[in-house]
Amino acid sequence: MIDPSELAGAFHARFGREPRLYRAPGRVNLIGEHTDYNDGFVMPIALDRCTWVAAAPRADRSLVVHSREYDETVTIDLDAATNGPTGRWIDYVRGVAAILGGDPGQVARRAPAMRPAVDGGDDNLRHSAGADLLIASDVPMGAGLSSSAALEVACGYALASLADVVPDLDRLARVAQRAEHEFAGMRCGIMDQMIACHGRAGAALLLDTRSLARRWLPVPPAVRVVVCNTMVRHELASGEYNARRADCEDGVARLARDAPSIRALRDVTIAQLDAARADMPPRIYRRCRHVVSENARVEEAAGALTGGDSRRFGALMDASHASLRDDYEVSCPELDRMVDIVRGLDGVYGARMTGGGFGGCAVALIDGSAEARVRRDVARRYQEATGLEPDVWVTRAGSGVGAWSLDSAPAA
Ligand code: GLA
Repeated sequence: MIDPSELAGAFHARFGREPRLYRAPGRVNLIGEHTDYNDGFVMPIALDRCTWVAAAPRADRSLVVHSREYDETVTIDLDAATNGPTGRWIDYVRGVAAILGGDPGQVARRAPAMRPAVDGGDDNLRHSAGADLLIASDVPMGAGLSSSAALEVACGYALASLADVVPDLDRLARVAQRAEHEFAGMRCGIMDQMIACHGRAGAALLLDTRSLARRWLPVPPAVRVVVCNTMVRHELASGEYNARRADCEDGVARLARDAPSIRALRDVTIAQLDAARADMPPRIYRRCRHVVSENARVEEAAGALTGGDSRRFGALMDASHASLRDDYEVSCPELDRMVDIVRGLDGVYGARMTGGGFGGCAVALIDGSAEARVRRDVARRYQEATGLEPDVWVTRAGSGVGAWSLDSAPAA
C-alpha cells in the first residue's frame, strides 16, 4: 500500500515544495482478452492498487522524474527531440509528456490531438510546462496488470492538471495509448488506458472498444475476484504481442476480400470464419477463431454477471483460457498450472490467464465464503508445483484516475 501522506512528505524532502497528488489504478481483465485491438469487447475492473504521482510545477521546461521502484531520477528536456524506445520505465513518462506538448516540432507533426487548447475547442489537453514528479506504485510490474497504463495515465493526468487542464478521459486514454505505441513500441489496444481512466468502485467495465461505449456491471457482493501472480514476468512479450496483432490483420485482409464491410475481427461471425477456413493458413485461422469466439464469450458473460449466474461466468472464463492457450498461444506452463490449480478448488467458479500473457497473472471468480481457503491453498499448491512463491490476493474493483486530497481523501 502507498501512504499518500508519506509520499507527500518524501516529495517535500526531495524537491522542497508541497506536491499535488494523483493516482491511477492497474487493472485485471475478467474476460475479453486480445479483443481490444480487434474492435471487440472487454470486461476489466480497476484494481485497488495504483501508481501514484506527487507533482509540482517548475519554472523551466524540464521534467525531473524520480521513480521509487527503480530508485532512479531522470531529467527530460521538454524542448529536446526524443529518441525511440529505450526499453525503460521512463519511456512511458517521456511519451505522455511529449504527446501532451513537449517538443513543438513533434506537436506540429502529430496534430490535431496535440494542439494547444483553443477556446470552445474540444481539445482540452494542451502544452504542459516543466514539473517535478515523484512516482510510487504498488501495481506489480511485468505481471500483466497494466502497470504501464497506470503510469502513463497518472503522469498524463498530473501534467494536464498542473497546466490547469481538466482532462477529457477518453482523450487522455488515447494519448496514453499513443505513448505506448510510439515510445514503448507496443501496439496495444485501448482497454488498459480506458479502465485506468474510467474505473469505478464495485463494478466491471463492459467496453466496446470500437465505439468506446461503456456499461457498468456491478460485481455481485457474494463473489470475489482473486488475482494470482505466477511471478513469471512477461517482459519479452511485446514482440509476440505485435505478432499476434499482425496475424489478426492478416486474417481481416483475407476475410475482407469477399466481404468489404469487414473492417476488423469484430465484424466476423464464426460461420463466416469457418467458410473461409480453407483459404487461410491454419495459424491465422486459429488466431481469428480465438478473437471471434472471445467476443461472443464477453457478451454472454455480461448477461451472466448481471443475471447473477456466477457458474456460467466461470465456465466462460475457463473457455477463454483454453482458447488463449490453444488457439492464440499466449499462455505459458506456469499460467496453465496456476489456472489448473485454482480451478481444482471448491468454491471456484472459473479461472483464466489475464492480460497479454506469456507470464503474469491468472484471475479467478470465487465464492466469497471460500476466500481465505482458496488463497491459502493456491499459494501452497503452486509453490509445491513450481518452486515459485506466488502473490495471491482478493481485489476490490477500484476507481479510475484522479487527484487525491490529503484533507478529504476519496475512497479508493
Ligand atoms: C495488453 C494490452 C491490451 C490488451 C491486452 C490483451 O494488456 O495493453 O491492450 O490487448 O494485452 O487483452
